[in-house]
Amino acid sequence: MKNTAQLLAENKAWIDETYEKMEKKLRAMAVRSRDVVAYGVDENGLHRDMKEGRISWWTNGFWGGLNAMMYEYTKADEYLACAKSQEKLLDVALREKYLELHHDVGFQWHILSGALYRITGDPESKVRNFFAANTLAGRFNIDGGYITAWNGKKQINWTIIDSLMNIPQLYWLSRELGDDRYKRIAMAQADMAICDHLRDDGSIAHIVEHDRETGEPVATYGGQGYAEGTSWSRGQAWGVYGFVLSYIHTGEERYLNASKQVANYFIANCCDDWLPRIDFRAPAEPVYYDSTAGVITACGLLELGKLLPENEGGMYTHAAIKMLRAIAENFGNFDTDNDCMIGYGSERYPVPGQFDEKKAGVHMSIIYGDYYFAEAILKLRGSEFLPW
Ligand code: GLY
Repeated sequence: MKNTAQLLAENKAWIDETYEKMEKKLRAMAVRSRDVVAYGVDENGLHRDMKEGRISWWTNGFWGGLNAMMYEYTKADEYLACAKSQEKLLDVALREKYLELHHDVGFQWHILSGALYRITGDPESKVRNFFAANTLAGRFNIDGGYITAWNGKKQINWTIIDSLMNIPQLYWLSRELGDDRYKRIAMAQADMAICDHLRDDGSIAHIVEHDRETGEPVATYGGQGYAEGTSWSRGQAWGVYGFVLSYIHTGEERYLNASKQVANYFIANCCDDWLPRIDFRAPAEPVYYDSTAGVITACGLLELGKLLPENEGGMYTHAAIKMLRAIAENFGNFDTDNDCMIGYGSERYPVPGQFDEKKAGVHMSIIYGDYYFAEAILKLRGSEFLPW
């Protein structure tokens, strides 16, 4: 197996060419969608706007975060203007609709305001991320030792694997304050995920219900996957990237090992075409793809490729590049006059009798597909900026 440096050199022409096309497209989008809180695209290929009615939606930080990340790399004003506009638009969610906030405030503010603060030093961005991080910490269940998901009474003792991606906001606040309390909450969540979400074979349960008194797991649910006991690919992706992020922020080997375990499972279950299906244990037909699972996983694999010794890391870099190339070739759109860059993202599995394909959001442009694709391409270009 080639090592990471050899693979990067071998794929340099593709990486550079893809970056150039992506950057041209994203810059056009930054101008066109500066004041649009972007999610998917409409029938004209232009971003749908979440401002009216869905400003608290968990994905609303990705478009601004993508612009912050591109600004950090290029220093082009278009990206900064868009990122700054986005964080002001999200103030409605942070200040006026506080009661709607949930476990995903890291996705909403850490990669946007948290990143902008780290890039520009703007104290107002720091306040926003500080406030969001405290909201996340406030969701910690002291008896159970976990961060509770969602806001419903029924879900008060539920956890989800996705939360691994929100806890970097807590590691950040601990560093910022020189106070380990937030880090300890984050590590409790990551440890719980190892015990209760990660299965022995390296697959991951999306949702775990805990005993209200002891915190012990009492049930798992299929969540956005096919069914209970199956393996929703984006949940696996949150595991690959989320665990390695906890390793980067703490240096604790158990998180690196957990990330590797999920990564090995993901690679073994990704079909020969390197295009992830929505659920690795769903029926083979019909074929439902989720490109977002691939690009999120690629980001985690690239971190593993950098962190592990040469003889081991190359395998993860190899898989990341294979997946990114397959996704760009099959689902990429680099025309500058529309807002979909990575198609064939899927919100959830269309379980027969529960969600039809439209309601499940199958095979669509989703903003975090674009976000993680761009993050992966910047990593391949050598960017050391970690938005998480
Ligand atoms: N965090 C929800 C999802 O991955 O769709």
